[in-house]
Formats: sequence, structure tokens, C-alpha cells
Amino acid sequence: MSSSVKRIGVLTGGGDAPGLNAVIRAVVKACATAKVECVGLEDSFDGLIYPERSRLLTVKDVTGILRIGGTILGTTNRGNPFVYPINTADGPVDYSDRVIENFNKMGLDALVVIGGDGTLSIAHEFAKRGVRLVGVPKTIDNDIAETTMTFGFDTAVDFATNALDRLHTTAESHHRIMVAEVMGRYAGWISLYAGIAGGADVVLIPEIPFRFERVVERIQAREQLGARFSIIVVAEGAHEVGGERSIVTSGTPDRAERLGGIGEHVSKELERLTGKESRFVVLGHLQRGGAPLAYDRVLATRFGSFAVELLLRGESDVMTALQSPDIVAVPLSRVVGQTRNVPVLGDVIRTARNVGICFGD
Ligand code: F6P
Repeated sequence: MSSSVKRIGVLTGGGDAPGLNAVIRAVVKACATAKVECVGLEDSFDGLIYPERSRLLTVKDVTGILRIGGTILGTTNRGNPFVYPINTADGPVDYSDRVIENFNKMGLDALVVIGGDGTLSIAHEFAKRGVRLVGVPKTIDNDIAETTMTFGFDTAVDFATNALDRLHTTAESHHRIMVAEVMGRYAGWISLYAGIAGGADVVLIPEIPFRFERVVERIQAREQLGARFSIIVVAEGAHEVGGERSIVTSGTPDRAERLGGIGEHVSKELERLTGKESRFVVLGHLQRGGAPLAYDRVLATRFGSFAVELLLRGESDVMTALQSPDIVAVPLSRVVGQTRNVPVLGDVIRTARNVGICFGD
């Protein structure tokens, strides 16, 4: 065990996901076991830009948070220190030197950075500038390279599945099409898994551009069989063949674009094309809220504990990853800037097709 790590900072960045608190708890407890101090940094890297926004975390501070959603440290997806969103005549400010200066002033030896691709990219830049750190992959989207699972995904899928169960009963009663738009950004993991678990008839994902004709054919085939309702799951990043993604707001240097609206579009088009009544729901941030399920609590705890282990071993610029059945360390350089998409020829898509799910292709 390396004796050079005596004080570790922990932060959460990007959109929240169920299980963040479980990681924080594991980091704090693993630090306590190794007799290392742990400092909680608030709102992502803001805790290093404004040192007063940090606090010592003891085992007592994390008691009872395992089962609670959100993050006790707060988070933001607008806090990139390299392009910090403060309005000056010259545009955003570069606070990266200030972060490193404060990291040293605060007596920190290392960081655990819990976040998605954006936060992990920032972490990688700081690691290249000599900050010792380990990343922990977080997102309900499950789209981070090199790890087969991120915590939060299972809880989000479970919520979406429950929603589909509820939509089934009302769809059947009213002989309607019900469309559920789910999150996932440019990856279709949530829609695919919830679609299979919730018995959807049609699943539209970004990886397989769709045609309305194919979806209409499926709905009509169901009618002929006597099934007068259909359940459609649409990933927020899905789009037609040759079409564009549906965007709410465009991206800026410090903020990713916001997706949304495809569920409404699909619902209205299907009503027009089939003559059947259609309704849509956007599950939105409900998928990110609430308590983490057992699987996510365990994965988050394994990631948090391993992150501390790696730092004590002297490792840096790596991310904890699940490569079943093991938790391993992968270089951040292999992770950042990548998106782990659903393999369109993989067994999960084949399984879905075998049980009659239509992808609109
Ligand atoms: O990456 C997680 C995620 O929930 C995406 O699925 C979604 O597109 C995005 O974050 C929403 O971000 P915000 O909370 O900024 O609206």
C-alpha cells in the first residue's frame, strides 16, 4: 500500500444517476479503513474552484445514504473548469490552473472523479497535467466505453419497465397506440432493455434508423391478429432513415445538446398514418430519480471501493470498469470521447427480434 496518499477528494459531475451516493459512501468507508482522509467536493469541479465548497467526510456523514438517490455532494453539467461558464467580454474562463493550485493548497493527494463521458474527459485532462486521479463511470445511459455496465442503468430500466406495464393496461382498454420516450442520449440501451422487459411491440433506437411504414405494418399486423393496441418505446436519440435527431436545445462549448420531442412526433405520425388514437409520455428525469436498485448499489460500491484501492496502489488516469465478472482498471485514454452503442448484430437485438419486437427497419 502506497503511503503517499493520505487525503483523497471525491466529486460527482454531470447528470445524476441512482447509485452516486453508494459510490461516495464506499469511497469514504474504504478511505476510513485505510486511514486516509476523504474530502467531499461540491458540485463537480466547483469544489476545487471554490475551496470553501468542500468538506471533510467521515463515516458518520455517509451513514444511511446507500439507499438514497441523487448525490449528497451536488452536481452540475455546466462546470467544466477549462471553459467555465462565466460571462466575460472574452467568453468562458479557463479555471484549470486554479483547480490544480487549490488541489495542492487543500493538501489533496488524489481524486476520485465520478461522472460520465464529459466529466471523465475533464478528469483525463487534469491527470495529464499531473493530478493523480481515478474515474468512476456513471450514467443511466450505459454508454461508457470499456465497461459493460454503469450504475444507474438497471434502476432506470426498471422504472421504464414499470411505466410500460402501466401503459399496457390503459392502451389495451382504449385500443390505443401508446408511445413512451425514454432517455439514453445517442445509445439505445434503456429503450432496448425496457422494451424487452416490458413486452413492447416496437422499439426505436438511435443505432437502427427507422421507417414509419415498417412500424405501421407491425401495428396493422397486430390488429389483424386481434391485438388492438400497441406499445412503442422510443429512445430520445432515435431518428428516421435519412432524418435528424430531435433536439430541444443545441449544444454549446460548455454544455451538451438536449434531446427530446421524438416521442411526440412518432405518436402524432402514427395516429395520422394508422387512423388509430395515439398518446405519448416522456419518462424524462423520473428515470434518474429515486432509490438505486440492489444491482446498482452493489456495482456502485464495488466501483467506489476499487477506486480507492487503485489510488493507494499508486495508479492514476484510469477508470474502474465492469468486465464481468471482474472490476478492472482501464486507461481513461481508451474511454474518453467514445460512445458504447448497442451492437446491432448482437444477441440482445437478435433476442428482441426473435420475440417479435419491431425496430422499424
Ligand atoms: O446522460 C444522462 C441523461 O439523463 C441523458 O439520458 C439525457 O439526454 C440527459 O442526461 C439530460 O440532461 P439534463 O438533466 O441536463 O436535461
